[in-house]
Amino acid sequence: MIELRKLKAAANISTPILNKILLQKLQKLIKSGEKIAMLTCYDATFAKLMELAGVDILLVGDSLGMVLQGAENTLNVSMHHMTYHTKMVKNGAPNTLIMADMPIGSYEQDNEAAYKNALWLIKSGAHMVKFEGGGKRVETARYLVENGISVCAHLGFTPQSVNQLGGYKIQGKTEESAEQILNDAIAMSDAGVSFVLLEMVPAVLAKKITESIKTPTIGIGAGVDCSGQVLVLQDLLGIYTGSASKKPSEFKCPRFAKNFLRETNSVQQAVENYVLAVKNASFPAFEHSY
Ligand code: KIV
Repeated sequence: MIELRKLKAAANISTPILNKILLQKLQKLIKSGEKIAMLTCYDATFAKLMELAGVDILLVGDSLGMVLQGAENTLNVSMHHMTYHTKMVKNGAPNTLIMADMPIGSYEQDNEAAYKNALWLIKSGAHMVKFEGGGKRVETARYLVENGISVCAHLGFTPQSVNQLGGYKIQGKTEESAEQILNDAIAMSDAGVSFVLLEMVPAVLAKKITESIKTPTIGIGAGVDCSGQVLVLQDLLGIYTGSASKKPSEFKCPRFAKNFLRETNSVQQAVENYVLAVKNASFPAFEHSY
């Protein structure tokens, strides 16, 4: 990362070139078998801490609706919220790859609207955007990629569809739904996405997908065989206890979450331990997987 900072300062490298350099560096790491450690991040202080801790990708997730705003789900997050937090993260971590979520309503209507909103996130400091779903979304991904925007496809449990999915449930448990997720991952990979994120799917399915596509996978509740892992920062710190309206005692921590702060009294060390645990594949363990 230090070399990149020097490079950028010396040559005044523009964002698209830096984007390419960061992506190529990550692709090299993945090819060499190294796991990618990603974390959600919403502000400059944590972004700086995470950059120093060696987190490979910072995700400005629309989970901010839950962990920052106190809502039950991500359905009220707007483009203004996303661009505001993306700018903060960029300020804190100018040399780390930043992925920003496209909030609900910002990419479904048509490809041009999706492009416009994706570009707004890029101009706010993101190197890549992420959006949820397969099927019709494959064409949106292809359109963005063809127009120079790097994309991560989010498959499996898709939080913006929490109501249609009937709650926070594991996806891909039946043969039919597992095949659907695999086919979506293949189609997204063929469309040129840079990553496929798999949330809350059986570990065996995530392994099969990772082995079947050329695109690296990032898992959350998807077992240890993905190319990388992501966790929500507040879950890593063990400080999220549900929406503002609920009592902490009513909150059931998701199986895939691990409190890394419990083993140390330093936030910086907790993040470093997470990075290390992802890299040496000790996280996620069997008890964090489905
Ligand atoms: O918004 C988010 O934090 C996410 C993670 C759950 C992967 O999409």
